[in-house]
Amino acid sequence: MSYKVIQWATGGVGRAAIEAVLDHPDLELVGCWVHSEAKSGKDVGEILGIDRVGVTATNDMHDILAMEADCVVYTPLFPTEQEVLDLLASGKNVVTSVGWVYPFKTMDLTAINEACQQGNSALHGTGIHPGGMTERFPLTLSALSRAITHVQIDEYSDIRTYGAPNVVRDMMLFGHTPEDARKSPMVQFMSHGFMQSIDMVADELGFNLDPKKRTIHDLSVATAPIDSPIGIIPAGHVAAQKFTWQGLVNDEPVITATVSWLMGEENLEPGWAFGPEGPRYEIAVSGDPDMQMIIHGCHPHSVEAGLERNEGIVVTALHCVSAIPYLCEAGPGVKTYLDLPLISGRAAPEFQK
Ligand SMILES: NC(=O)c1ccc[n+]([C@@H]2O[C@H](COP(=O)([O-])OP(=O)(O)OC[C@H]3O[C@@H](n4cnc5c(N)ncnc54)[C@H](OP(=O)(O)O)[C@@H]3O)[C@@H](O)[C@H]2O)c1
Repeated sequence: MSYKVIQWATGGVGRAAIEAVLDHPDLELVGCWVHSEAKSGKDVGEILGIDRVGVTATNDMHDILAMEADCVVYTPLFPTEQEVLDLLASGKNVVTSVGWVYPFKTMDLTAINEACQQGNSALHGTGIHPGGMTERFPLTLSALSRAITHVQIDEYSDIRTYGAPNVVRDMMLFGHTPEDARKSPMVQFMSHGFMQSIDMVADELGFNLDPKKRTIHDLSVATAPIDSPIGIIPAGHVAAQKFTWQGLVNDEPVITATVSWLMGEENLEPGWAFGPEGPRYEIAVSGDPDMQMIIHGCHPHSVEAGLERNEGIVVTALHCVSAIPYLCEAGPGVKTYLDLPLISGRAAPEFQK
């Protein structure tokens, strides 16, 4: 059985998703929406710099709504709920890296549920962090432990490998003064996603969380000029940021998710570092017994390699694409990891890198 797929937006995640759909034995690419007018009308292969694919990109949503397709991989820079509603109502399942991982406690889903009923379609939010490391993998690991008291998920990344300088400088506010960076809209934007992950872990494990979760935003500044892909970061300006979100019981953390983004390890105050394990994800379940998992492979080996092809972006796309065959059989509504069967990749014994 082959599922017909439309890719929505061709940024880093979108381009990696297209490659994954083209390679997937159960999937067929039938359409592509682009935000940019310059890309509209081009063959998808031309946009990716690969052989012709035979699918023409459009920036007209009506073209996409009129297409027959089983699923849309929705990965724009900013999500627009009305677009998602229209896609669902037109009978297309939607898998996305931009939200809805576990929206039941924080979002009004009336319109989404109506659109899913109208289109007999489903919505699945996924990704890597949040959307994988923060809930899917800790919950899997938790099955090996009992009497769980705390779940910790940590990301350590070299932010120099993230090839979106505008986002790093203008949204994340790296290179700005600490006073400016404290006002970063990223805190609220990211909190929306990470709080959903914390809710999923709490609900499944059975933690009855306090109504209010905790958010902490720590900054580290350059002690000397740091050369980076967004230009020189002057001494005294922000060169590393750490975000912490906590689900609490009686004001004590029981679920903690952190994201540590560093512009390398030199000339930072406080002197944060990746440590001997380097950039990675770490998951720790405190219980009987304590379980720990360290995940490599989502981080590039060097800044140059990351700017060329960042594995963190690629795995985000793959998590979306791998879910498609499962989502298309799931029935209508919002479907999380708790609703879908075990999502896996696909074999290709002949594949050569
Ligand atoms: N959950 C996770 O773990 C995770 C991980 C990585 C990324 N993400 C999210 O996934 C999304 C895509 O990430 P990305 O790295 O692919 O971003 P990106 O490289 O910046 O690409 C986003 C694409 O969105 C389109 N776009 C540009 N401006 C837009 C606007 N104003 N409104 C709507 N679309 C616009 C463009 O598409 P065209 O080029 O086709 O015109 C652009 O290439 C982002 O929202 C990001 O936050 C989530």
